[in-house]
Amino acid sequence: MILINGKETAEKIRQEIKAEVAGFLDTYDAAPHLAAILVGDDPASDTYVSHKEKDCKSVGITSSIYRLSTKITEKELLNTVDFINSDDDIHGMIVQLPLPEHINVDRVISHINPKKDVDGFHPVNVGKMALGYPTYLPATPYGIMELLKRYKIETAGKHCVVIGRSNIVGTPMSILLSRKSNPGNATVTICHSHTQNLKDIAATADILIAAIGKPEFVTADMVKKGAVIIDVGIHRIPSDKTKTGFRLIGDVKFDEVSKVASAITPVPGGVGPMTRVALLLNTLTAFKNSRSLI
Ligand code: GUN
Repeated sequence: MILINGKETAEKIRQEIKAEVAGFLDTYDAAPHLAAILVGDDPASDTYVSHKEKDCKSVGITSSIYRLSTKITEKELLNTVDFINSDDDIHGMIVQLPLPEHINVDRVISHINPKKDVDGFHPVNVGKMALGYPTYLPATPYGIMELLKRYKIETAGKHCVVIGRSNIVGTPMSILLSRKSNPGNATVTICHSHTQNLKDIAATADILIAAIGKPEFVTADMVKKGAVIIDVGIHRIPSDKTKTGFRLIGDVKFDEVSKVASAITPVPGGVGPMTRVALLLNTLTAFKNSRSLI
């Protein structure tokens, strides 16, 4: 059984990015710059944005955080997006989600200049992805595609089952795996809340992507012997065995599924670090795009 090490792979990619950024500083005296807009004081969002800031710093990417009150109007938020859109020294932008209820998320995402949309959430970029054009890919599916590529996991002709159809993970994952590319060329089934016989379908997967957001949802009886398991879930549960009083688990019951699988991503240390590094890859691409280097 192969333990797919996302932590180690992400670190390798970070070193590659760091070297490229150093090259840009030498050649252009400029570095990629990512701006993050954080609305409100949701602790989880705050942590995610802090991680993004730290990740940027670790490779020499400049970052700016625009912290806005939860009471901000949609117009004011759109003005901030406009401000970043028109700053040529900022190459990539993200608006951390979720946003407060009174703000229309779709309108905000559509307001981002697609060239700076390093989350890959803008409808133009989602359309490009679906058509197989080069564009920014949403971070989690991008990270998973890199893992499949670097671990040389064959996807062509394989049956990939994706559990979950979110705009951020399940849907783009299903599109990327079915695209005429490598990794890709897979036969893809996407399962969701209305799927009948989900367990039976999962058990036919050569590659199973669990992105359902339910702790330890995937059990050994849902997995074909020798399947590759990619666990997107991350859940904090209380534990009396750790100093912090909690531990992290995924959407997959690791102990039993790892005995059946041929390869599996752990939680933590699997998909999570790859998601983080994928944003840096997109920011690097945004910088290159801004200078017509690709
Ligand atoms: N909230 C949870 N995941 C994400 C993400 O990938 N991007 C943004 N902008 N917000 C998120």
